[in-house]
Order: sequence, then C-alpha cells, then structure tokens
Amino acid sequence: MGSAKTRFSFSSEKATSIKADGLIIPVFKKPAPKADSKAKSPKEVDPSASIVWPVTLDKTLKDEIEAIALEEKFDGSKGKTLTVRQSSANKLGARRLVIVGLGEIDKVLPRHWEANAHKALAGLLGLKDFKSVAILLPEATEKLSAEAAVSLAVDAVFQATYKSMEAKEPGPKLDSIILISDKKRENTLQQAQALAEARSLVKDLVNHPSNLKTTNTLVEQAKTIGKNSAIKVNVQSSSAWIEKNMPCFFTVAKGSLASDPPKFISLHYAPKSGKAKKKIAIVGKSVIFDTGGYQVKPGDYMVTMKGDMTGGAVALATMQALAALQPQNIEVTAYLAATPNKIDSDAMIPDSIVNTSCGKKVEIRHTDAEGRLTLIDAVTKAAESKPEEIITIATLTGAASVAVGSYIALMGNNEALRDRIAVAGRSQGEPIQTLDVTEDDFENIKSKLDGADIINTSQRKNRGAQTAAAFVMSGASDEMPMAHMDIAGADMTPDEKATGVSVKTIVQYLLNEDASLGGGKASAPKPAAKSTTTSKAAPKGKVAKAPATAPLKSPAKKGAAKGTPKKPSDRQPPKAKPAASPKKKK
Ligand code: BES
Ligand code: MN
Ligand code: ZN
Repeated sequence: MGSAKTRFSFSSEKATSIKADGLIIPVFKKPAPKADSKAKSPKEVDPSASIVWPVTLDKTLKDEIEAIALEEKFDGSKGKTLTVRQSSANKLGARRLVIVGLGEIDKVLPRHWEANAHKALAGLLGLKDFKSVAILLPEATEKLSAEAAVSLAVDAVFQATYKSMEAKEPGPKLDSIILISDKKRENTLQQAQALAEARSLVKDLVNHPSNLKTTNTLVEQAKTIGKNSAIKVNVQSSSAWIEKNMPCFFTVAKGSLASDPPKFISLHYAPKSGKAKKKIAIVGKSVIFDTGGYQVKPGDYMVTMKGDMTGGAVALATMQALAALQPQNIEVTAYLAATPNKIDSDAMIPDSIVNTSCGKKVEIRHTDAEGRLTLIDAVTKAAESKPEEIITIATLTGAASVAVGSYIALMGNNEALRDRIAVAGRSQGEPIQTLDVTEDDFENIKSKLDGADIINTSQRKNRGAQTAAAFVMSGASDEMPMAHMDIAGADMTPDEKATGVSVKTIVQYLLNEDASLGGGKASAPKPAAKSTTTSKAAPKGKVAKAPATAPLKSPAKKGAAKGTPKKPSDRQPPKAKPAASPKKKK
C-alpha cells in the first residue's frame, strides 16, 4: 500500500496557478465534423483546435500548448498526453503540466479516466523528487459522475504507487494529492480511500508467494481486520467439525490435512445501532493453491494458482472497508472456506460420491473442479443465517476467461440484484459482463450415477462458467437471491500481478444499498445510472479505518510464515526474489 500515507485534499484554486510538483489536466476531443459538412476551415486542420479545454489558459501558456499540440499532433484523443514545463514566461504553478486526452466527452467511461490518470501519474512519478500532484477532475457526464471522477482519481494514485510486499524497492511515495474541483466531496473521498485500500489489500494477499501462503495467512488477516473494529471474526479450525458440517468442502481439504488443515472463517459487520435493514452474505473462494489435485494441472497451467484465493481476499478486504466506513443500514457477513487443493494419499479421487451440507450428493468427476466443492457448502452455511441475498466471488473457471476475457463474469438467479451490482461496479470503472445461467445449466450438472444428485463438471463441454455457477447456487434454495462473480480472467494481469479487481464492485454495491436504505454516516456516491432496491428471487433458469497491522510476512524474514504481524508501513523487501515462471493460463 504505497500510497497509504498520501494526503488527499480538495482545492478550487485556478489549476495552472496551483503550486505542486505536477499538474494533470484532462481534456476532451471535439466530436469529428459530420462527413457531409463543408470543407475544413484552417483552424480545424490544427489538431489543438479540436480540443475542449476545461480551463481558461493565460495567453502565453495557451500559445505554448497550441504550438506543442500542433507539433505532436495532440488532439485530445484517448490516451495521448502532452507535457509542458514550468517557465518564467508561462507562469505555471506546477513544475510540470501533463495534459491527458480522454477522447470524446460523451464516450468517456470511469475506467478510461482511471487508466489515463494512472498513465499521467506514472510518467510524473518517474521524475526526480516528485512529491505532490494536483489533478483537475474531469467534468461530470452521464457516464462519469462527479463522485466517480473523485473515486477513480484516488484509485489511480493507489494503482500508480502500488508495489507488492515482495518488491525489491518500495513504491514511489507521494506526500500530497490535490483534487481540483469546485466542490469538496469529503465523503466520496473517504470512501474512495477505503475502496483503494481494500483493493491494495487484495493485491497484497494475492501477490504473496505460494510457498509462504497458508490458510493461516487468511485467518491472521481476518483477525487483523477484527482488531479494534466493528467486525466480529469467527474461525472454525477443527477438521472434525468441518468433516461433519461441511463434508464437500472437507473433501477438497483431504489433500492437505497434515500440512495445512482447512479453516472456515467468517467475519460479521453490523452497525452499532443494531438497526440494520438488510442482511447480505459474501462468500469468497479461498483455495490457497490449486494444483488440480490427482487430475493435476499440466505444466504452466498451475502457474498463477496462488491467486485461487482471490475471492477470499476480496471478502476480507470488503470487511476492512466496512470497518472503516461503518454503513448504518446494512449487516454483512463474509465467509471463507479456506484450503489448498493438493495431493496426498487420502486426497479426493474421481468417481467418489460425497455429501454436502445442503443434503445433495455430489459426484466428483474432476479433482480440479474443487472451487465449487468448497463454495457449495459455504453458500449453505451463509444461507443458514437467512441473509436477503448472497454474493459469491471466485476464480472459478477457465471457461469464464474464455467467455469474457479479463472482465468479471457476473451471473446469478436474480436479474435485479445482478443489475444493481453491475451498475455499482461500472461506476467504479470495473470491467463487468453479465452472463445468464439457464435451466439447461442446472440440467447439465445432474449426475447420471445412481447415488449422486449433482456432478462437479458439466455433462457438456460448453457453458463451463454458467454450469459452475449453477453448481455453487445449488447450495441454497431457488428463492434465495444470489449473484456470482467468476473472476478467473480478471484476477491477474498478463504479467501475473494481482489486479484487485471486483472488491470495488462489492463495496460500492454495499454502499449503494446502504444509501438507498436511508444513508446515514456513510452515504454512498451516486452511481452513474439509476439503481433499484427490489430484490425478488426469480426461479432458476428465469434469469435469470483500516486496521493497524497486516499479517502478511515478507519472504525476507526467517520463518516468515509463522512470524508476527507487521505494520503495512514496515513492509520489507525480500532478500531473494521468488523464481519467475513462464505463464500460460487456462
Ligand atoms: N482455479 C481454477 C480456475 C482458474 C483457471 C482460475 C485459470 C484462474 C485461471 C479452477 O479450480 C479450475 O481448475 N477449473 C477447471 C474446471 C474444470 C476441471 C471443470 C477449469 O476451468 O478448467
Ligand atoms: Mn481447480
Ligand atoms: Zn481452483
């Protein structure tokens, strides 16, 4: 969390006069003239004339910028940047001005603003002694709300300064970020920081090397979140209890009972008033490392499987954000069924029939389809406390990444719930694509064996993401509104770094629900589009403040996996870098 100590503030001063090391000004591109319009006037040939300037510029500065724009063909197109240095002639307050193109105003999405603010920041941070940056917030549009402009600028700062705990050098430190805006949006700013900190926590947990990560890594993180906060943490570490009460989850854990026994972790948040109007459950896939089991993952397919606990990390980080923001109208419980998927003589094998806590019998056909085995029991446990809805987050299927690439594949059994989550996530710039789970998907997970009801793979080769979703949702009744996010294609970048994707979606969704139920202390930023609060279950097929310490250990420390928790600011670079491996994701 490289930017944890950055001070964020608002200013309504004139952008070009603000004293800072850097100044970022986003500009839009004027829409192209219609094809049938008359010949271009000389001014329109000048690319700088096609820019919509959000600020009035003094003549010298304006002339200078236009000259550079002409030479560099800068026209405000998305992703293009133009840099100007401070001089006695142009009287810039900042040492360096970066003008960043966002493209045409009505096409700008939250994630475009984040990506380009990130890009501009990354350029500035490479320069000597950059400690403060002023960022002019782009004009609000239908697709990019004023709140989202704040939120995504804050996220861009965290993204641009993030370095994992294992990095040899710490991330660049920024002392101050000044958000230039007519209005001080302190509440949005506070939420944005909590969201960005949550995202960094997900990245820290996921990036942590597999040889140092155990179920206890998640347990310790849960306890850290519970310390001095409104979060109550419960850890079930008795293998006998898990075998009896969550037999399907236990089936996966059998491959690592001796080396890293399973944990069932829950974290509960309720407002101090005790007057929550809605109860929401979150279940995160927490497979510490996925070898595939006896049907072992071949070669490179196993690489990046340290990230198979991303869903659990998202669930933990969500609770950290709730502890900081304390919404007044919602009660939230997060559940993590944590275990590696490994091999020993007792590990699960195909052709088994195992019990679940919901009573259904499961045919194991593939030991690498372990995530759904852990989740079905966790969903049943979540449903027992009678929440109004359950959200599952999981790196569940390679099929999801084939279907939607690096997007979040958002599914469920309740269209209204799914849409509210999509609106929340998109307002936070997260890439989301919805998929429908149909009656056929439930048909295709029916087992043909006499002694089993459902099977942990599909009877067909296709619709792998949707059939896995159907399996997970089978843990609760048809009437329970459920949403499922398969993030198998979204959790890591092509160069195998955690993205932290999906935690902002969940937290923003929770804040929106809180706000629609009456707000209170932590009223949420308005999403760009309307959201409704009706959540009626559709039958299946219809479509149907941050804790003080972090438990992650640096690999540099001897006996790191069992060491004492350290402050995030005390994070130390490792002495040895874990061996890099080639990447080929399934
Ligand atoms: N953890 C994997 C899914 C995954 C794949 C996540 C790639 C991130 C990147 C999951 O446990 C798995 O192995 N799924 C199998 C299921 C199959 C055996 C039915 C898959 O998708 O191939
Ligand atoms: Mn697997
Ligand atoms: Zn897995």
